[in-house]
Amino acid sequence: MNIDIFTLFPEWFAWFSSQRHVSNVLAAGTRLKCVNPRDHTPLSGGQVDDTPFGGGAGMVLRVDVLDCALRAHYGVDPVALREQRRVIALAPGGRLLDERLVEELAGEPALTLLCGRYEGFDERIVEHFASDVVSIGRYVLSGGELAAMVLCDAVLRKLPGALGDERSAAEESFSAALEGNPEYPHYTRPAEYRGWRVPDVLLSGHHEQIAAWRRERSRERGAPAPGRDEQ
Ligand code: 6GU
Repeated sequence: MNIDIFTLFPEWFAWFSSQRHVSNVLAAGTRLKCVNPRDHTPLSGGQVDDTPFGGGAGMVLRVDVLDCALRAHYGVDPVALREQRRVIALAPGGRLLDERLVEELAGEPALTLLCGRYEGFDERIVEHFASDVVSIGRYVLSGGELAAMVLCDAVLRKLPGALGDERSAAEESFSAALEGNPEYPHYTRPAEYRGWRVPDVLLSGHHEQIAAWRRERSRERGAPAPGRDEQ
């Protein structure tokens, strides 16, 4: 997979790329590249954003700046780019990132992530350049960078070689193996601590009983808890 991240803060991604599961997939051939729109701005003084028309607080990323940055990087009119690859604008009001969308994106050969800053993007960026608008939750972050890292983390760990142990991804929360439910609880040594015992079945060595117990706990966690998490 080939991921390009358009961000005014490319240095933030150096730390992200150095994390083990990320560096594993990078070593296996996935590419993660940052492009700074400031390096391609046609405006003087490295200007990339501007005050909103109609007034209001904050700054808005300019459409002409992103047009230039995308065009410089891909060599095509950015309007045509979304026909070739997913171009994802990260914004709080977008489609909520969930495991289904993560799976979908993990199947793509290439992604372009657009990180807005401050008050976000000029809407024409979303209208004319983006194929998707994605949000990681209904709260406002001061930019798309952390959301882009969350998206990349979730997507990259789906790729071969990310986790070291391929079983970890198959049977994790929300996977098909668990019928879309959250993962069952895990326990490790000590088998008893302050009187808190690990469920006997897990110490029994009966693999079928263990699998059945885990499916059951996973289903319980998937059932909506009364009065909680209701939207
Ligand atoms: Cl994708 N961007 C920003 N700025 N805030 C967010 C978000 C994205 N997702 C949740 N909050």
